Amino acid sequence: MNGFETAIYEKDGSIARVTLNRPQALNAFSVRMRDDLFEILGAVKADDEVRAVVFSGAGDKAFCAGADLKEFLTAPSAVKARHIRSVRDLWRLFLSMPQPLIAALHGYVLGSGIEIALFCDVRLASPDTVFGFPEVTLGILPAAGGTQTLPRIAGLPAALDMLLTGRRLSAQEALDRGLVSRIVPRETLLPMAEDLAREIASFDPIAVRNAKQALIRGMDLTLDQGLDLEWRLAAETKVARKAFGHFYTRRHE
Ligand code: COA
Repeated sequence: MNGFETAIYEKDGSIARVTLNRPQALNAFSVRMRDDLFEILGAVKADDEVRAVVFSGAGDKAFCAGADLKEFLTAPSAVKARHIRSVRDLWRLFLSMPQPLIAALHGYVLGSGIEIALFCDVRLASPDTVFGFPEVTLGILPAAGGTQTLPRIAGLPAALDMLLTGRRLSAQEALDRGLVSRIVPRETLLPMAEDLAREIASFDPIAVRNAKQALIRGMDLTLDQGLDLEWRLAAETKVARKAFGHFYTRRHE
């Protein structure tokens, strides 16, 4: 699967790499990129061989400098935009991905760039990374999940601070706020992200997928519902079935 205009898709055994590939425009997120990513993620989601995915940006300067501002001038009508969103909702597709997604971030990570990163499960950043949500300063709102994902990950105070001011954060500030989990030297960023992907891919796939599901879906449940979800997902793992057999399934009888 290749030949995309704005992204490179590579499969290497049990891991996949998705590279945003418009370096001349700092990998700005365009309509074409939305369609390319939608196709790539759809295929990855259906591919049981892929156990973890690494996202990165081509070029030296950016993971992604946000929505393509040049396209804003040619934006479709609100009705058309709503229709496209209903048939090709990239952000819900991101949210529904069963495999762990790892973001290897460098340079500018702005607007849609940070929103893509926030849909990933593990974020590594090089020391030169600059994070920001400039939308409000441009008179718009983040519309790729940022108002929802950011507070869930970094907490409401940090999200309000970033979103209402458009202030940019350094890699260290992002680490302090839990936006990224590690800062990694630029030259080892991608190899480290891939090592991590390979390590995750070496674990039992049901255990990995169910752990991700329990965490992501659990965030939107009450604790009581979350405990039920955890129980059900835990019971599906091979080890649990072998070790406890009917004990797990009998809890709800
Ligand atoms: N959409 C479209 N093109 C973009 C872009 C974007 N969001 N961000 C950068 N580019 C393009 C520039 O137009 C420029 O293209 P050109 O060489 O054809 O003129 C190229 O990428 C390099 O950008 P440049 O501005 O020259 O780099 P810089 O290092 O001086 O500045 C930024 C980098 C990120 C500070 C600056 O490009 C910027 O502010 N971009 C917009 C960020 C933004 O507001 N995103 C929207 C979020 S909703």
